[in-house]
Amino acid sequence: MIRLGMIGTGNISRDALTPAIGEVDDAVLWSVLSRDRERAEAFAAANGAAAPTAGHDDLQTFLADPELDAVIIATPDRLHAEQTIAAATAGKHVLVEKPMTTSVEEADAMVAACRAAGVQLGVAYHMRWHLGHRALAKQIHEGVFGDIWHASARWTSKALDTTNWRASDEVGRWWSLAGVGTHSLDWLRWMLVPVCGEVTKVSSTITRDKLGSAHDELAAVSLTFESGASAQFVSSVLFAAPNRGEILGSNGYAYCEATIGRWGDGHIDTNTGTLEFEVVNPYAGEIADFVNAIQKGRAPEVSGEEGRRNVELLCQICP
Ligand SMILES: NC(=O)c1ccc[n+]([C@@H]2O[C@H](COP(=O)([O-])OP(=O)(O)OC[C@H]3O[C@@H](n4cnc5c(N)ncnc54)[C@H](OP(=O)(O)O)[C@@H]3O)[C@@H](O)[C@H]2O)c1
Repeated sequence: MIRLGMIGTGNISRDALTPAIGEVDDAVLWSVLSRDRERAEAFAAANGAAAPTAGHDDLQTFLADPELDAVIIATPDRLHAEQTIAAATAGKHVLVEKPMTTSVEEADAMVAACRAAGVQLGVAYHMRWHLGHRALAKQIHEGVFGDIWHASARWTSKALDTTNWRASDEVGRWWSLAGVGTHSLDWLRWMLVPVCGEVTKVSSTITRDKLGSAHDELAAVSLTFESGASAQFVSSVLFAAPNRGEILGSNGYAYCEATIGRWGDGHIDTNTGTLEFEVVNPYAGEIADFVNAIQKGRAPEVSGEEGRRNVELLCQICP
């Protein structure tokens, strides 16, 4: 049994990560860290955290628990590096939310700290455990669609104002790109890099200050891969449009309707018909992979190095 500590008690901890821990056989929610002790205790109690002292408001005390095996970091992006390095130094494995941090230097320091401590570092791109996406990636990588020449992804949402922490510098660096664009970037890299090689060129149009934020409110991004294939993605907080992905190859195509997003559903059509898949909770798959990586002493499926590459590209897309 792997004992997991949750850092942060916000949206993703409450709605997705903590419920998903309950779906994983070899994992238990052990303890919780919040800025506020009462909030930590309430969150721990509401979610059945198992530690005798389960609610904490001090990082070092939380990490000093010898029975704690690993942490899940679900706090604003600029806090991830310090929390990851502290956890690794305390000998705890780390699953950190996306984007893993906001600079390449910090990403390098996180990878180095986990390597030096001999702990696993995973980055939480949950769409990798959408079973339709997994089936699609397998077909792409087996050459079912021929040479892949173009792919696209769109995930947007509508914000009403700039109260979101991603809209300002204190604990955020990017807004739409950190909220959803980084997921589309990971999805495109997962689908294409094994068959098209690395991303060699990036260009982008960034829209700011329509809601009042100096951060990206819309990002329209073009990527070129080593093979000559191209890809585009759009992230935005200015409008909510249907989420969509496309894969276009020399022997076929795939259209993904509403599969890009939080959950394991949606629809995938290909040139040979519907791609059937079971709807499962992708967050449970993500945590099961992290737990299995700890047990087997292997890197999680989305490693710190992969998360670092995503951050490096985000820095080029929106310096
Ligand atoms: N994979 C996904 O599907 C997905 C979806 C959404 C978010 N995320 C990622 O998860 C992380 C958290 O996002 P979220 O949407 O859950 O954010 P959120 O709702 O604002 O929650 C963040 C939590 O972090 C803690 N925190 C510590 N210092 C903070 C500070 N200075 N300002 C604000 N919160 C602070 C807070 O918990 P306490 O008040 O208890 O300290 C807060 O509830 C981000 O990295 C985000 O990109 C991932």
